[in-house]
Amino acid sequence: MRYDERMSKLLGLGPPASTPFSPHFGGTPNTLVGRDDLLGTLGSGLATGPNDKWYTTIIMGVRGSGKTTILNEIEDRAAADGWVVLSLDAGTPGLLDRIAQAMAQANRSYESLELEGDARGRSVGKSLGVRLGPLEGKMEATDFFESPTMGLREHLVFLAHQAMKQGTSVLLTVDEMHGIDRVEGRRLSNDIQHITRRAGLPLAFVGAGLLEMKHTLMRDRKTTFFHRCEDYELPPLDVVDAMKGIAAPIEDAGGSISPDALNLAATAVKGSPYRLQVIGDAAWRLSDAPETSIDTRIVEMAVTAADEVVEKNIGIPAWHDLSEREKSVVVSLASQSGASDAIKVARDVGISSRQASGLLIHLRDGGYVTSLGNGNYELSGLVPAKVALGAHSSGEGSSAEPIHRPAASGRAAARCRKWMPRARAYCSLRAGHAGRCRSR
Ligand SMILES: Nc1ncnc2c1ncn2[C@@H]1O[C@H](COP(=O)(O)OP(=O)(O)OP(=O)(O)O)[C@@H](O)[C@H]1O
Ligand SMILES: [Mg+2]
Repeated sequence: MRYDERMSKLLGLGPPASTPFSPHFGGTPNTLVGRDDLLGTLGSGLATGPNDKWYTTIIMGVRGSGKTTILNEIEDRAAADGWVVLSLDAGTPGLLDRIAQAMAQANRSYESLELEGDARGRSVGKSLGVRLGPLEGKMEATDFFESPTMGLREHLVFLAHQAMKQGTSVLLTVDEMHGIDRVEGRRLSNDIQHITRRAGLPLAFVGAGLLEMKHTLMRDRKTTFFHRCEDYELPPLDVVDAMKGIAAPIEDAGGSISPDALNLAATAVKGSPYRLQVIGDAAWRLSDAPETSIDTRIVEMAVTAADEVVEKNIGIPAWHDLSEREKSVVVSLASQSGASDAIKVARDVGISSRQASGLLIHLRDGGYVTSLGNGNYELSGLVPAKVALGAHSSGEGSSAEPIHRPAASGRAAARCRKWMPRARAYCSLRAGHAGRCRSR
């Protein structure tokens, strides 16, 4: 089959291709790799109870690093062991109301929960390898709510009390925490602090969000509960894990991949679980697998196709997450072959070296650049140089002008640009618009 014919297989609509990969966000991977240690530690922390530091944990990572996947995994394990699971995301306002609704839904799903096997001494599954807690008795669904007039904190206290009486626990997970409304974040922080720390009730908390939280939520003086949570930064996958993550789904689905092709694909993953899934999916579909074995030529094509997908779904949104100042620094690095130091950046952008250093540290904490030592930094690839330079030359975002100058025109600033996690897009309406955000 010709190159363009193969590539068109990736673009055409047609019937949904069956693929053993999950090239989407929040999808469950066929093979979860590189997270055994985290899942083991987190699982045993939850099993130990409120006195364990992992009982309240915040997982941070760049886009596509697998945060939602970890939450899903922990939730599944907890639910299978009879915990009451409240699973929320903070990407849109109204989180506290949604927690209340989740309690009502948990009521229903808990009722229909079928607990397998012997309640005592069960293993919760292969990836955790530990029990999440002693399950001595299932809660009565009616135990969940005392009165509809109770506030959120009272509801959570009541639910946690009931769970404690029955020898089980409640797990509250909050995804997209970087997008949390400040007022709601502060209230939630106080409420959980009260329940878990002061009253010692069995309400476990696992949050997840982008690394930028380190400079926002984790610094806010009024969210001390979150600061005291165990914080864990998801590391990139190593090549051995990436090889397993690509080979296992292919083999499970009856396909095969040559050793050289596997090596090439795993190296191209560059530590990103999302990239792994997109490369694996593209290689599978381009090769007519499982009938045909995947070779290096197919992987080369798959990587080219994956670059575009990853750029669109990770690189560009990550670029838009940056402030104008940070964009200028990224453009400066990009125009110096991707690596530079604070002095050169300062000169290029028209700021002091101190400011440039501060911005570079900020970018490093957010996963945009990596430190090479001796004050040198290079782009990490989260935002490819091409994206930064493309946006720069099209006049969007960054500017080569000194960044201490006021914004040139009010046009860009007049947009709302709030990130909408579900739509995976920014709001394109005017700043201060009425009603809900919209991407078009
Ligand atoms: N450890 C892993 N091994 C293999 N695949 C993984 C792993 N973690 C996540 N994935 C896959 O990678 C993709 C992205 O994962 P996920 O949606 O959890 O990322 P995320 O960090 O939540 O991204 P975002 O910041 O955009 O919300 C999903 O398809 C998921 O199945
Ligand atoms: Mg996610």
